[in-house]
Amino acid sequence: MSYAAYHAGSLSDPEGFWMEAARRIAWERFPSKALFDQRAPLYEWFSDGLVNTCWNAVDRHVAAGRGDQDALIHDSPVTGTLSRLTYAELQQQVARLAGALAARGVTKGDRVVVYMPMVPEAVVAMLACARIGAIHSVVFGGFAAHELAVRIDDARPKAVIAGSCGIEPTRVVAYKPLLDAALDEAAHAPDFCVILQRPQQLAALQPGRDHDWHAFQKGAEPADCVPVEGSHPAYILYTSGTTGKPKGVVRPTGGHLVALNLSMKLVYGVDPGEVFWAASDVGWVVGHSYICYAPLIHGNTSVVFEGKPVGTPDAGTFWRVIQDHGVRSFFTAPTAFRAVKREDPEGKLLAGYDLSRLRAIYLAGERADPDTIEWLQRVTGKPVYDHWWQTESGWPMVANPAGMEALPVRIGSPSVPMPGYDVQILGEDGAPLPPGQLGAIAIRLPLPPGTLPTLWNAEERFASSYLSRFPGWYESGDAGMKDEDGYLWIMARTDDVINVAGHRLSTGLMEEVLAGHPDVAECAVIGVADELKGQLPMGFLCLNRGCTRPAPEIVSEVIARVRDRIGPVAAFRLAAVVERLPKTRSGKILRRTMIEVAEGGEVRIPATIDDPAILDEIRAAIRPLGYGIVRARPEGSV
Ligand code: COA
Ligand code: AMP
Repeated sequence: MSYAAYHAGSLSDPEGFWMEAARRIAWERFPSKALFDQRAPLYEWFSDGLVNTCWNAVDRHVAAGRGDQDALIHDSPVTGTLSRLTYAELQQQVARLAGALAARGVTKGDRVVVYMPMVPEAVVAMLACARIGAIHSVVFGGFAAHELAVRIDDARPKAVIAGSCGIEPTRVVAYKPLLDAALDEAAHAPDFCVILQRPQQLAALQPGRDHDWHAFQKGAEPADCVPVEGSHPAYILYTSGTTGKPKGVVRPTGGHLVALNLSMKLVYGVDPGEVFWAASDVGWVVGHSYICYAPLIHGNTSVVFEGKPVGTPDAGTFWRVIQDHGVRSFFTAPTAFRAVKREDPEGKLLAGYDLSRLRAIYLAGERADPDTIEWLQRVTGKPVYDHWWQTESGWPMVANPAGMEALPVRIGSPSVPMPGYDVQILGEDGAPLPPGQLGAIAIRLPLPPGTLPTLWNAEERFASSYLSRFPGWYESGDAGMKDEDGYLWIMARTDDVINVAGHRLSTGLMEEVLAGHPDVAECAVIGVADELKGQLPMGFLCLNRGCTRPAPEIVSEVIARVRDRIGPVAAFRLAAVVERLPKTRSGKILRRTMIEVAEGGEVRIPATIDDPAILDEIRAAIRPLGYGIVRARPEGSV
């Protein structure tokens, strides 16, 4: 069957398609049907099935004779260590931690916040929660204490599982003081914390509340898998929206299992037993889906990599890991390869490594620029597949179905919709646009299994954020177009979300932090193009009348403030003081126009602008930052 026919079948007979896909999962009770639409436009899949994620990711492979296969390979150039966990060992570790959590009262539906670096124990913690039906919420280590506190207050966890520290190439980041500060700030108090002590930085434990990882589990009775309903939340993952408050994306258990399992062969082309590597972090959706869950559900070996594409120790690290572990499919964000390309433009570091077992390279998380794709194709000689998805979807929405039928790659396009995704480009009036026309990228409801059914504790926000602008559709937040052959082209976000080094961040949140500075009267944050990170945040500050403090002092203070409140991951280093912000006559800040000024391209001056002269003031203010410089267009460009 061609991929086109397969995809068409998923849309014309979703019930048949997904019930068939569900058969590859081991259910305690097989669902009576796939789609539950009583509450449309809120949909659920496999709700009356009973199933356990951990059973499917671990135990069933041991039962089927894969116990001696490596489930996880922890390759950690930042600590100089390498370790492996077979499926049988993983089962033992997960069952023991799950048992210890259960003995302390953690039960089905309780939340557990996980704040850990890239160590195998992070995956063990996630699976232990899944084993007993607890709902984990992993928080990325690069977030500051305040962001952790916000998530703790929203998820209200019974327990927190954390590492004592994370290791960045140039410093050890002590996580425990960040956790302590977050717990001081949060209104909600978890019953207890479990701390994995790492030798690089031991944490002080608070008696009565904090337990050492090993002592906590000593003598614990291993827990069995607890079957949960297909619609039971497997996890909550917070992601940036337009406001300062993050959105708690809920992942339903049944659809997650079915969709991730399907994606491993269809998209990533791997068979059970092969090694799969996603170089990301467990704190992001890529880490949830393709470091932890999908490879394990599918019976693969997953590489847990604790390092960076460059500097740990050099730009050949990716090639070394691919060779050493016989990686078949490799997935990372384009920014990681931009970093490698910058250090090793000729790809000389590849020469010493054997990449013969590598099938293909996958890129997602941000726009994959053609230069990077072409460079990667040239130096590796391997297929390079861009694919498009989001925290909300949990698995690729648009990709090349290379494991079934490798479609020709069109550089700049992530290719075609995956099963169950009816992706259309909508105009302002909500009507689908013909090929070649730019509009909002939307997906006809229902979204396929595995995607978010709602936001944690925020059903109305779910509906207003995603479903209200185009009734009957899910609004992705991205704009783009389709070509005549159905390939999708992603152009830009339609909201205030920016993408910094593959990390999704809210400019609205940064504006809230800047506005909290006592000397700032008004501010705006925009995302500007950056060669390495794709985008960088840039802040504009209007100071209170009468403020006489030197501008550079205030700029350094707001930069420190963003690092302190949001975290280093925001990479907020560009800010300028200006007299006023460009606005429409009705007072709306013209952020789009500011981006055009900053990026030095053509500036389309809106007819509604209050005073165009402000744009020159903006340009002058950011010139010292290396932006706002009008670039000559290359000859022949349009
Ligand atoms: N814990 C604590 N701090 C962290 C962290 C973590 N888990 N991850 C990142 N940080 C810190 C970094 O140390 C850095 O701090 P600094 O300002 O003191 O230097 C800051 O957050 C920004 O980190 P990062 O985005 O990693 O940028 P970088 O400049 O250190 O490295 C790249 C640039 C391109 C090498 C890096 O961004 C990268 O590897 N990206 C891969 C993208 C990726 O994994 N995306 C996930 C979605 S697929
Ligand atoms: P996240 O939820 O962090 O995975 O970020 C999702 C957003 O990243 C999408 O809505 C897009 O804006 C962007 N994105 C992800 N993958 C791609 C891609 N392949 N091409 C362009 N943008 C992408």
